[in-house]
Amino acid sequence: MADFPITMSVKPEIKGFYDTMTSTISYVVKDPASKACAVVDSVMDIDYAAGRISFDHADEIIAYVKAHDLKVEWLLETHVHADHLSAAPYIQGKLGGKIGIGENITIVQETFGKVFNAGTEFQRDGSQFDRLFKDGDSYEIGSMTGFVMHTPGHTPACMTHVIGDAAFVGDTLFMPDGGTARADFPGGDAATLYHSIQKVLALPDDMRLFMCHDYAPGGREVRWETTVAEEKANNIHVGQGTSEEDFVKMRTERDATLDMPRLIIPSIQVNMRAGQLPPEESDGGHYLKVPVNKL
Ligand SMILES: [Fe+2]
Repeated sequence: MADFPITMSVKPEIKGFYDTMTSTISYVVKDPASKACAVVDSVMDIDYAAGRISFDHADEIIAYVKAHDLKVEWLLETHVHADHLSAAPYIQGKLGGKIGIGENITIVQETFGKVFNAGTEFQRDGSQFDRLFKDGDSYEIGSMTGFVMHTPGHTPACMTHVIGDAAFVGDTLFMPDGGTARADFPGGDAATLYHSIQKVLALPDDMRLFMCHDYAPGGREVRWETTVAEEKANNIHVGQGTSEEDFVKMRTERDATLDMPRLIIPSIQVNMRAGQLPPEESDGGHYLKVPVNKL
């Protein structure tokens, strides 16, 4: 059981925004009793080949928030994404709100600070974020209380956010026909992921689960919402009580066949800085590095 109170009677209003470039879903999570909301896992657009960033996806979220006259209280990152860049600081600049991530961001910063030779000016204490969540921490979105569950395995800093009858699982689970996320990034671990998934599956059966990604397996249409009961019954990697041993074997074998995500190099450099580009250089420009033979 979760070690925080679960209030299934609180039903946040949730709007998903799908980014076709990275198959990421960002969410606006609104308190039904007020205008307060949180934005989960926003996306900054990048044309990596051209070194060009833009904000069409984030602007869509901003337009939605403004059209509904909402007040952004939180910009939540379920983890340090390796496949897309966060737009949290851009949205914060336009709409306010506090940027929050799991406290183990410091481990991710330590690892990738080295990979990118980020130098001593890159703080590895999580201070780029407004709030570092510990397992079991809570926060308010208007009249709702969100709770944070540490669900590592995909990365050390992964958190699942439970808000009323909804849980944002980040990259622990995918939709039942998509299975689970990879566990082979630095600091990832398949057995740890298995245990984190069991924590999610121990939530109430009718809890709504919201995915961070959907790759539309088999060419079906994109979906991002399911329930604990559906995942327990049908998840192709962990459903029907799959054992830890079977899961770890499957996950490890599968991960060995996967290429690095196309945007891992720009994504990590930006996301480890809470969505900021690396600092300006002497000509006033921002540059992203490509570490050679380090990933
Ligand atoms: Fe991820």
